[in-house]
Parts: sequence; structure tokens; C-alpha cells
Amino acid sequence: MQPEGCLDCSVRPTRGMTLTMPGLESALAEQLERRRRAAAEAWSLRDEVILIGFGKRISIPGRGDRTYPFRAHSEYLYLTDREGPGGILAFDPLTGWMDFVAPTTREERLWEGGSPTDLEEASVDAFGSWLAARQGRKTACLGDGLDEIVSDPILETFVREALNEIRRRKDEVGLARMRQAELVTCVGFAAVRSSIQPGRTERELQIELEAEFYRQGADFLAFDTIVGGGPNSAVLHFPPSTRRFQEGDLVLIDAGAEIRGYASDITRTYPASGTFNPEQAELHAIVREANRVATLSCRPGTEWRDVHRAASLVLAEGLVSFGLLFGEPESLVDSGAVHIFFPHGIGHMVGLGIRDAGGLLPGRVSNTNEFPRLRVDLPLLPGYTMTIEPGFYVVPALLGDQDFRERHRRDVNWDRAARMVSFGGIRIEDNVLVTTDGCEVLTSNVPLID
Ligand code: GLY
Ligand code: MN
Ligand code: MN
Repeated sequence: MQPEGCLDCSVRPTRGMTLTMPGLESALAEQLERRRRAAAEAWSLRDEVILIGFGKRISIPGRGDRTYPFRAHSEYLYLTDREGPGGILAFDPLTGWMDFVAPTTREERLWEGGSPTDLEEASVDAFGSWLAARQGRKTACLGDGLDEIVSDPILETFVREALNEIRRRKDEVGLARMRQAELVTCVGFAAVRSSIQPGRTERELQIELEAEFYRQGADFLAFDTIVGGGPNSAVLHFPPSTRRFQEGDLVLIDAGAEIRGYASDITRTYPASGTFNPEQAELHAIVREANRVATLSCRPGTEWRDVHRAASLVLAEGLVSFGLLFGEPESLVDSGAVHIFFPHGIGHMVGLGIRDAGGLLPGRVSNTNEFPRLRVDLPLLPGYTMTIEPGFYVVPALLGDQDFRERHRRDVNWDRAARMVSFGGIRIEDNVLVTTDGCEVLTSNVPLID
């Protein structure tokens, strides 16, 4: 079950550095060229100018010169593979791509290290004159950090949506990095299994998990690690506390490593005492079945909404037979009753970051009144990488919601739900790659239960 040991990916990103992994250098150069060519073709511009900014350092309020850890904007990272701040990628359909990179300053070398940049690309100092030579031409800014340049909103939306569509289909380099992030995360989950015991704390588990991610070569965490024991497992994004696991607790772990910007996002729910009690086992099996059915439905052409619906139907059916819901699964999904216990979407696009370029198909609008609101609304295509993360939670805030209680008074066994108020929650999250005729589960090595 457990994948092999440490991965050879010890190089950490530094300013202006191209992020490489052994054996991928040539593929990377090719893929970067392909990414840029695909964008230029999709845009088919006449004489408009496109600028992609790296982003900017963000100050931590009240903390003097301290800034949040710098992360390049995903659009910039995708087209340059450069994590360091200070760059601008520019495209003019008449002259092609220009990469402007900031040289390392003496101050930065003093405080942060690094050597003088040996730039193949132009220095950002030359950007001003490059842009001045194109004055009066319609311009769109992607990425971030180019606030002083006027960006045409219609052109910006068009080029961003076209770029998103290219980014969604993972290429060889993106997939290799993702697979590595999945492997690192898998090793981390396997390493903490023996620490899931009564008496240990959520915080201890977090520390061990994250240490293992970094030992295995993670550059960053893909997101803040979630560990919830007992009732805390019902809080969707619970920040680990010093609470100790108790006999009979559920322990929900949702975590992921990031490699060269590519993320993994995995959830498992384990019994603190080594075995589930019968109620937990029944509900875990229902969530697992929802995960299985949703995964089976992932194939080219399937609408993401239908993947969500497939999981919701399994949960509704399971909760009727468990005795928490009353009625027909179809109508419990249509009325939204099932979402009192499954109060989030089935998943999201993962890849370059934990929220990759999912979103909506151009022309579709988000329904802000929808509960839960889906982050993705588009049909799947080969190369898309998605999370599948059904769950069951007993959330006191939802059980006490007067609107839900009124609207679903006949759908829910409210007395039974009240008796389960400390149950917590169960989530099983995998990452899948859509293939030409189905999907591949990238996270199947992470143990579900012993
Ligand atoms: N891993 C947290 C989330 O998917 O939102
Ligand atoms: Mn997650
Ligand atoms: Mn997720």
C-alpha cells in the first residue's frame, strides 16, 4: 500500500529560478512553448497587447516590513514556470512573447540570499520602453500587480477564459508534478496512521503530517491542514487545536502537499480507536459509495453538476435507509434536504494550486442563492483534474437553522439528528484525472481504513 520512500525533488524555488525536476527539463521547455503557442492561437489577436504580471508582495497589516509568503499568480506561473517576484510576461501578436524578469537587488541578496541574476530574459527595466512603443493599442492585464496599466475588461475576460480552457487540460509537466504531490501526500498520510489514537492531539497530527510532507520534498502546503477530531470533524475547514482524540472519535484529516505549484488535496476519516462503531461504519460506507459512484461518473462530456447530483443521490438513498431522511432520494436532492448533511459541492478543479482554473463555462452564470454553491459548472474533458469529496456531517448550525427546519420539516428525522449532534463528520476526498473514456484516481494509494 505504502509508496516508496523519499523523492528526489530537493530543489526549492528561489527568485527568478525555473522550477525543474530531474528528467523534466526538456519536457518543461517544450511545454512552456506549447502553452504559449496554445494561448496565442486561442486568442488570435490582431494588434492587442497582453500583459501577465507575477503579482506582488502583500504586507501583513501592522507587522512592519513583514509580508505574506510570496506566491506567483497562477497565470504567470503557468506561462513562465517562475515563482520569484518581479517579472512581467508580455505578448504582442506582431512581435511575439517577451519575458521581463527583475534582477536580484543587492538588498535582496543581503537579506534573502541568491546570486546576481544571470538573465537570458530582458530586465523589467526595459518593460517601460517596450510598452511605450505600443501606446494606444488595446491592452489586457492578466496575473496580478499591474494596477497602474489600464486593462480593457472585455478583452481581459476573453483572454482569461481562453487561457483557463488551456490550463484545465493538464500537460505532461503539470501531471508529473501533480503525481509527485499526490505521492508525497500519500506518504504523509501513511506516516501518521499510527499516531491516530486516543490521547493524541489534532495539532500533533498536523505537525507530523506536515513534517513528513516537507521531508518528502514538498515546497509548500497546498492549503492550511485540516484535522478535526470528534465534533470538530463536522467543521468543514477545521484548524487543528490542542483537543485530544477520545475513544470513539472520528478523526478527519484533509491535507495536501504542493510541488512546483501543483497541489494535492486528500481527505480521509479514520476511527480514533482503530475501528468504527456500527453507526460510523454505516455512514462511512455511504460516503464511500458516494465517492465511488461520483468517480465512476467522471468521463468526458459529463456535466460537473451531474457528478454532484450522482453523489447527492447516493447520500440521500443511504440516509433514508439509515433513518435520517424520509422520502424519495430524487425529491430529497431536488428539495435540497440532503444538503443539510452534505453542505458543500462534490469538489473542484485541482492542479496548479488547490483551486485550479475550474469556474464556469463562458456564458454560464453562478446562482448565488444556490445551496451549496458549486465552484465548477462545466462539462469534463480529458486532462481535467478534479477532487471528488462527498461527505456527511452533523452540523449544529444547520440543524438549528429555522429556515431549514421549516422547509424540510417532513424530510428530516430531526429527533434522530439531534441525538447525533456530537457525531462530527466524514469526508472522503480523492483527486481524479479525466481520461479519454473515464477517469484515473490519482490518490487511490491513500488508505481508507485498515
Ligand atoms: N481542502 C479544502 C478544500 O478543498 O476546500
Ligand atoms: Mn480537501
Ligand atoms: Mn478539496
